[in-house]
Amino acid sequence: MATLFFSLIFTAAAAPHDWHHGPPGYHHEANAYKHVVAISVDGMHSSDVTKWVALSPNSNISKLLQTGYEYTDAWTSAPSDSFPGSLAQFTGATPKTTGVWYDDTWDRTFYDPGSNCTGPAGAEVVYDETKDYDPTQLFSGGIAPANLPQALVNGKCQEIYPHQRLRVNTIFEVVHSKGLQTAYADKHPAYDLVRGPSGTGLTVGYFPEIAAVANTVAATIAYDQLHVDAWLDWIKAATPVNTTVFDGPLTTTPALFGGNFQALSVAQKTVGYNNDSQSSFSPAIVRAMSFVDASIGAVVNELAATGLLEDTLIVVASKHGQAPIDRHLYGTVDPQLITNLTGVPVAFQTSDDIALIFLENAADMATAAANLRAHAAEGKIRSVIWGANLTASGFGDPATDPAVPNIIVQPELGIIYTNSHAKVAEHGGLSSDDRQVACFVSNPRLRKQVFDDRVATTQVGPTVLHALGIQSSLLQGAVKEGTQVLPGFW
Ligand SMILES: *[C@@H]1O[C@H](CO)[C@@H](O)[C@H](O)[C@H]1NC(C)=O
Ligand SMILES: *[C@@H]1O[C@H](CO)[C@@H](O)[C@H](O)[C@H]1NC(C)=O
Ligand SMILES: *[C@@H]1O[C@H](CO)[C@@H](O)[C@H](O)[C@H]1NC(C)=O
Ligand SMILES: *[C@@H]1O[C@H](CO)[C@@H](O)[C@H](O)[C@H]1NC(C)=O
Ligand SMILES: *[C@@H]1O[C@H](CO)[C@@H](O)[C@H](O)[C@H]1NC(C)=O
Ligand SMILES: *[C@@H]1O[C@H](CO)[C@@H](O)[C@H](O)[C@H]1NC(C)=O
Repeated sequence: MATLFFSLIFTAAAAPHDWHHGPPGYHHEANAYKHVVAISVDGMHSSDVTKWVALSPNSNISKLLQTGYEYTDAWTSAPSDSFPGSLAQFTGATPKTTGVWYDDTWDRTFYDPGSNCTGPAGAEVVYDETKDYDPTQLFSGGIAPANLPQALVNGKCQEIYPHQRLRVNTIFEVVHSKGLQTAYADKHPAYDLVRGPSGTGLTVGYFPEIAAVANTVAATIAYDQLHVDAWLDWIKAATPVNTTVFDGPLTTTPALFGGNFQALSVAQKTVGYNNDSQSSFSPAIVRAMSFVDASIGAVVNELAATGLLEDTLIVVASKHGQAPIDRHLYGTVDPQLITNLTGVPVAFQTSDDIALIFLENAADMATAAANLRAHAAEGKIRSVIWGANLTASGFGDPATDPAVPNIIVQPELGIIYTNSHAKVAEHGGLSSDDRQVACFVSNPRLRKQVFDDRVATTQVGPTVLHALGIQSSLLQGAVKEGTQVLPGFW
């Protein structure tokens, strides 16, 4: 009889000591902000910030950096798909702790939608537009329960919403639990995820379905504008039409709100960077960046107009980058080839600019890994991570955790495991192009600082709580992984 792993892991250890409070004598209340806005420019690398500032020194982003802290070597989670990349920031933790590896992956204890948990355990767990009532509509009423995967919870079969998949709490849950309001916008209703395991994280959510719009930069800019309009409404304490109201409507500007931009990611995937030695911005990337910059400017202007700018910490940290930046490196490999190269039965494979392989029989791991390594050139494989290396690299243990793949295949930089030729870049993998992302915070009261030391976007979570004057030890995943606030916040 299976019990869900996430219900077990909930006994998170208490903080060993109050590391989150900083050095003795530090009074975080004195620094506390009343609001944090957390924005992900999906796909934006740290190098893109540098390129944009050089191209547009008077831009809104350039101005934010004049009174902000920039982290030039910030790494998002591994893997770096949107789900784990978001949760890195919102839980302070990585997939081994959150249990969320990808938006489309496998769990050895799950069952297919509508199966009533009959048949052998083990099912695809996909949380994207396919969970909607109607993925062709921007707003079709959210997630249809019948589309959800199922699992046994305390012996009872139930549908598992994205937020229930998560094993540790989110900053939205922590902030909302303090009686403060929270709001978040993202690309699918499946971003219900950020509500956290309790389901109580959001006052309101705004989740127009990205799959309902064309995969072009122009259409995605129009889509992103919906998110921007929602943020501008939220600043005015208004609740826009087609909001998902969880515990609302808003009665005040949320203490924590945010969301993402997709336009740059679509420009990177469909057009890419220029074919020159600097991988300079193509017109499509400039167009997306100009839109993002003006939109962030609009948020700043609205905060100023409502008198909230001084009390608001603006956090721009991307969920993920995009690989390759250098278009010469782009190439594709049929994902079925990788499956075949294992030479053993594969239960499921997540294929992107990474392959996560779940075997039918764990006993085949060594054979499969050896076969993959022997055919590395054919599969354009850079590394095969499994066994002791998987665990030692911080990915967890597939023997004890049903969400951990048996084998992770990292392709050579620029290789995508796909049969589509519609994209020239992808994200989700382990490479520096996937993971070295934009990360900066800004407020008119901050003095410009540039931190070149390596940081992780998991540090955003504790930093957000700290900025709001809330104990970051309340963030379970950050405590489990010992995640510190970002430099500058000590
Ligand atoms: C699952 O249960 C529902 C409701 O009891 C039933 O209508 C459906 O036929 C069942 N499906 C399977 C695959 O057993
Ligand atoms: C709200 O959603 C409905 C579909 O349910 C749609 O017809 C309408 O245009 C949407 N309104 C706005 C302002 O997004
Ligand atoms: C990039 O430009 C070089 C010539 O400088 C050309 O040989 C190559 O095919 C181009 N590659 C792409 C992907 O456009
Ligand atoms: C900054 O944002 C504002 C508001 O959207 C916009 O009007 C302005 O053009 C932007 N500044 C630059 C330099 O792009
Ligand atoms: C994978 O193996 C199957 C079965 O042998 C074969 O039909 C298929 O062509 C192979 N695909 C690739 C991409 O190697
Ligand atoms: C772990 O990685 C090291 C270095 O890449 C390699 O030499 C070793 O064989 C790997 N061990 C396993 C169990 O894969």
